[in-house]
Amino acid sequence: MTRAAPSADAVAAETVLELRDLVTEIRSVRGLVRPVDGVSLRVRAGEVVGLVGESGSGKSMTAFSVMRLFPTKAARLVSGEVRLRGRDLTPLRQEEMRTVRGREVGMIFQDPASYLNPVLTVGRQLEQQLQAHAMGRGAEARIAELLQDVGLSPEFARRYPHELSGGQAQRVGIASALACRPALVIADEPTTALDVTIQAQVLRLMARLQREQGVAMLLITHDLGVVAEVCDHVYVMYAGHIVEEGPVERLFAAPQHPYTQGLLSGVLDLIEPKPIEVAIRGSVPDLAHPPEGCRFHPRCPHVMDVCRTRVPPLFDLGDARAACWLHDPEVAP
Ligand SMILES: Nc1ncnc2c1ncn2[C@@H]1O[C@H](COP(=O)(O)OP(=O)(O)OP(=O)(O)O)[C@@H](O)[C@H]1O
Ligand code: SF4
Ligand SMILES: [Mg+2]
Repeated sequence: MTRAAPSADAVAAETVLELRDLVTEIRSVRGLVRPVDGVSLRVRAGEVVGLVGESGSGKSMTAFSVMRLFPTKAARLVSGEVRLRGRDLTPLRQEEMRTVRGREVGMIFQDPASYLNPVLTVGRQLEQQLQAHAMGRGAEARIAELLQDVGLSPEFARRYPHELSGGQAQRVGIASALACRPALVIADEPTTALDVTIQAQVLRLMARLQREQGVAMLLITHDLGVVAEVCDHVYVMYAGHIVEEGPVERLFAAPQHPYTQGLLSGVLDLIEPKPIEVAIRGSVPDLAHPPEGCRFHPRCPHVMDVCRTRVPPLFDLGDARAACWLHDPEVAP
């Protein structure tokens, strides 16, 4: 029996996060930079969505744009929508955003030490977070449960951040992100700062909790091995644009954008995965002066005349999409 295609309403209902044509700008001495320049993406319930791309491509700025929590005052959301379970967050005031952060969206960052308060015990920090979102009742039991979920004994509640190893601190970070049972977790390079031996443990822990709790996850990473292991769907970002998206198996088996092809061939040549930025010749363009047309054209082995002047749209390729003129039957050679 064939299953009917889901209706538009069903798709909307199961969408946890949807970015629509998001644009974020940073004022800098070199001029206006748009690290997020028309980004659209979707994370469905229970799904792990990967966001990959070289250093400087705008992955973290995309995450910051969702939370409206920028590393610099010079950054601001210019246009587009951030829909969380159908509700656009962009008109919300900062106080209202505070209730979204932590409560509806949990965040896991690269460096857990940077967001753990050094003068508070682990237990006190988790308690404060639960209280901030009116979930403080029965906090002690909940904290013990959270610590157990991330593989730490209840005794860790009494420890201070400096008494934790990097892996333990990140486990606390994960407990904190999941504390209020958010619908979505955004994890930005959650294992990069950890020892290689610990990375796999922490990643498996995240993947297990994500599955058990059915939380949707946007996972930002350099590591394509991580993407292959835990993601269902992948978006590839280049110089502020999404250049390809698709189900993980398809993206790895048949990448449709020359940039993705470069990433994969560079990485697959090696036994040890290497950072994306050394896998493709040249480097990410200066976003203050991005190349005309397709931003990848100065580095692309398939560049055509049209690529130098016209920005390619995302072409539909069944269940995947790629922003490359090679997929336009009227343009491709
Ligand atoms: N604090 C900042 N001040 C000014 N510009 C910034 C700042 N942070 C980021 N940018 C600009 O935004 C662009 C995208 O940065 P972002 O941190 O999102 O990249 P990324 O893809 O997360 O890279 P990485 O993989 O290194 O984390 C940078 O290339 C830079 O032009
Ligand atoms: S649009 Fe042109 S330059 Fe850009 S990736 Fe495709 S072929 Fe290469
Ligand atoms: Mg980043």
